[in-house]
Amino acid sequence: MCGIAGYVGKKAVAPLLIEGLKRLEYRGYDSAGLALNANNQLYLEKAAGKVVELEKCVNAQPGLNELTGCGIAHTRWATHGRPTAVNAHPHLDGSNRFAVVHNGIIENYQELRRYLEGKNVHFRSETDSEVLVHLIAEAYEGNLLSAVAAALKQVKGTYGIAVISTLEPGLIVTARNGSPIVIGLGNGENLVASDVSPLLPYTSKVIYLNDGDIAAVYADKVDLRNINNMPVEREVARIDWDASAAEKGRYEHFMLKEIFEQPEAISNAIRGRLDAENGCSILNGLNLTPRDLAQISRIVIAGCGSSMHAGLLGEYYFEDIAGISTSVEQAAEFRYRNPIIEPNTLVIPISQSGETADTLAAVREAIRKGAVVTALCNVVGSTIAREAGRGIYLHAGPEMSVASTKGFTTQVAVLLLLALLLGRNRRLSRSEGIELVKQIEAVPDLIRSVLEQAPLIEEIAKRYAQVENFFYIGRGCLYPAALEGALKLKEISYIHAEGYHAAELKHGPISLLDENHPVLALANDVLGKDKIIGNIQECRARKAPVIALVAQGDTRVRSMTQDVIEIPQCSRFIAPLPSVVAMQLFAYYVAVARGCEIDQPRNLAKSVTVE
Ligand code: F6R
Repeated sequence: MCGIAGYVGKKAVAPLLIEGLKRLEYRGYDSAGLALNANNQLYLEKAAGKVVELEKCVNAQPGLNELTGCGIAHTRWATHGRPTAVNAHPHLDGSNRFAVVHNGIIENYQELRRYLEGKNVHFRSETDSEVLVHLIAEAYEGNLLSAVAAALKQVKGTYGIAVISTLEPGLIVTARNGSPIVIGLGNGENLVASDVSPLLPYTSKVIYLNDGDIAAVYADKVDLRNINNMPVEREVARIDWDASAAEKGRYEHFMLKEIFEQPEAISNAIRGRLDAENGCSILNGLNLTPRDLAQISRIVIAGCGSSMHAGLLGEYYFEDIAGISTSVEQAAEFRYRNPIIEPNTLVIPISQSGETADTLAAVREAIRKGAVVTALCNVVGSTIAREAGRGIYLHAGPEMSVASTKGFTTQVAVLLLLALLLGRNRRLSRSEGIELVKQIEAVPDLIRSVLEQAPLIEEIAKRYAQVENFFYIGRGCLYPAALEGALKLKEISYIHAEGYHAAELKHGPISLLDENHPVLALANDVLGKDKIIGNIQECRARKAPVIALVAQGDTRVRSMTQDVIEIPQCSRFIAPLPSVVAMQLFAYYVAVARGCEIDQPRNLAKSVTVE
């Protein structure tokens, strides 16, 4: 959940690392630090708070911004120890010759700390990570890579680390077990990072480390080994994201940029994957023959947060379009609940980042149980994508804002493609398939027309910005959409928001309603409209203010509330997509009106790599 950046080459190191940390800040942001290895000494700067605080400290040190050599840096999301400057990484050993940054959790750190303190090692921080640097210093016998390997052999838990030492200038040793590390290959320079975003301005050639890999990274070469010091070979991959995709451009926040990118992101997600003539989809990454597809008897979807909400829509799609019994698991429960997985069960892990620890654990469990696993990920080369072995990439481009927007909608679009393929493989007729293809192709335009209403949504949002509670209600496919809308609001505006099935309100929560407890009702589903109108009336009867999403041209709901957002008419399968975009905008403008941090809400991290 934290971010790592490292650089070795001829450029000034500190500004490059600060820039890298800013690109990583979405992963965690309660403190940050860097260590530079130059002039036979380590220069260390750390600060509590955001990367700009670290930048101020660096700028205040004369000459620091000009130093060349190599360095490592870290942005932290606290697990063990408070978010203070002392607990920020890098951690140094007692002799100030070794520096370490670490992502992950050292499970046996208390035992290791006791062992080291028994040898009079002095600890400066409260973190689990600090044991690593002392173990490395203790194991050092003239070779940094061997010392790191020896230290890591004593460790239980997960790590992605980067290490430098004054004893071996011009070298970064990096290793991974359960926490991603990617090496960027430059020209006369190399980089290390926990994901590709800091590498984008410098190179498109990368090596993803596997668990158990350790690498010595110099400016002109990379020596890859396993933990037993045996050479290993890893493929050089190419990233097709350009650096500007991970920049805000003319937008004030990444979230707004990513909301507005959705028509294009969905076009990219479906491009080349629709067969209009046969009313089907083409998903090569699936690597399953029509016969394999026909044998699938059950689908289990696993994901967390927004990705799980996308999965809930997948359940509607797979059952309704393809007639395959489907269940959705919170990924965190998957391996502890001992779910029934048979050889013909298709398990679909959904993860934008491809690094979420619980979803990864679900993938491993599903593979262990012999399921056919097909991952839906956005980040190419991410751990889940690689371990699943087959899957469908979202092609949404980098999602930098902590709140998922285009990640979610492209997941839903890809689930529709998969349901179409499975449906055509079973009960869906060609003409029904052709109709669904048309509906999917129309999604980018539907979303555009919602985006055009941004000024109206902003106006409504301002009127509701000061409330403290919200219900989001929907039925059918708009029920998962309601869950997603509520999640967006609570995570960025800190307003308590609950997504409920509209019919469930009467089974308890309706007692909360009064004039201070508004309800956002998704009333744009043609099928369930009469019922949701009844539910809106129930809310109005309790004086609850109602914001309604209505189908374009609606007059009935309009007569019940003045706060109405029109969603273009579309089928019930498609309706969640433009509806969620409207709710993303609503959440965004509410959070702006409340003066909240949009892209990095408190306590959150983009990629949750611990259980
Ligand atoms: C909410 C949000 C999170 C993620 C969740 C899973 O806006 O972003 O709920 O959806 O942490 O992340 P991924 O999809 O990367 O596995």
